[in-house]
Amino acid sequence: MASLRNRCCVLVTLIFLLGVWACQAAGRTLQGDDPMYKMHEQWMARYGRVYKDVDERQSRFEIFKANVRGIESFNRANNRPYKLGVNQFADLTNEEFGARNRFKSHMRSTKAASFKYANVSAAPSNVDWRKKGAVTPIKSQGHCGCCWAFSAVAAVEGINEITTGKLVSLSEQELVDCDVGSDARGCEGGWMGSAFEFVEKHGLTTETSYPYVATEGECNVKSESSRTVTIKGHEAVPVNSEGALLKAVANQPVSVAIDARGLQLYSGGMFTGPCGTNLNHGVAVVGYGATNDGTKYWLVKNSWGEEWGEEGYIRMQRDVGAEEGLCGIAMEASYPTA
Ligand SMILES: *[C@@H]1O[C@H](CO)[C@@H](O)[C@H](O)[C@H]1NC(C)=O
Repeated sequence: MASLRNRCCVLVTLIFLLGVWACQAAGRTLQGDDPMYKMHEQWMARYGRVYKDVDERQSRFEIFKANVRGIESFNRANNRPYKLGVNQFADLTNEEFGARNRFKSHMRSTKAASFKYANVSAAPSNVDWRKKGAVTPIKSQGHCGCCWAFSAVAAVEGINEITTGKLVSLSEQELVDCDVGSDARGCEGGWMGSAFEFVEKHGLTTETSYPYVATEGECNVKSESSRTVTIKGHEAVPVNSEGALLKAVANQPVSVAIDARGLQLYSGGMFTGPCGTNLNHGVAVVGYGATNDGTKYWLVKNSWGEEWGEEGYIRMQRDVGAEEGLCGIAMEASYPTA
């Protein structure tokens, strides 16, 4: 009896060990040995990404893998003056990425009013408002579709520094929570024009007194009551003119709308497209210049954190053949007036 029980135990143990080995082996060949799987795991840890279940993880892994392969082959081909990289958007399809950007175009309702820089004749050959101290550090909008607030705030911070000599980081959250109208729907999207109108009427408080939380909430009337900065009004840059845009940027940071779908995995260099003109993202042009080989660019401040692009910035090719500019950058530009 005893020996039978022993043999039985040995057999059970053997089967168990065999099972463990088989499982591990299968796991290894399926996932563990795949360097791409390891890379995805490290990427998840780095960006704090948590998936709700195994299925979601697997489908995100497939998208991640496709993006990494796309990045590698793009960079290997080396036929554009910019590079792609694995960033926080690497587990999204380009369609999903496009849907996150929530700028709402108002081109038709933008009045062709006065353009105060129409007669500017002596624009310098390059401008960098960062070097003049008119640009706050790169911010991150996170999962809230309020690029419109970040774009407008960058322009207001700029004109405020230019007129007062003080660089003050201002509150996007106040716009997200308190600028509620048909044109502004917090994290669901909005328009820089409505943000400027809000600041004209209500002023805007500081980032410190009304900090960014990346979700939409009730307007905090107490925080809102300290009006740190006001503007007189805002104007539109004449549509489809990179020349007019240059005159404006020579004088202050300017809010622009772009088609950002091609920017998902941009990691640095001169962005030359390909790019559409379906405006879906708001950013700020904070300068312009040219590279050593003479290629002209716009210096653009984005709101996707410092890890994206060139420490949060992108250089986009300027004076392209199309009048809309690259990614439609000249289609819907505007700036606040002090
Ligand atoms: C630009 O110059 C023209 C012609 O002198 C003038 O009519 C116009 O008012 C000026 N525009 C601005 C914004 O100063």
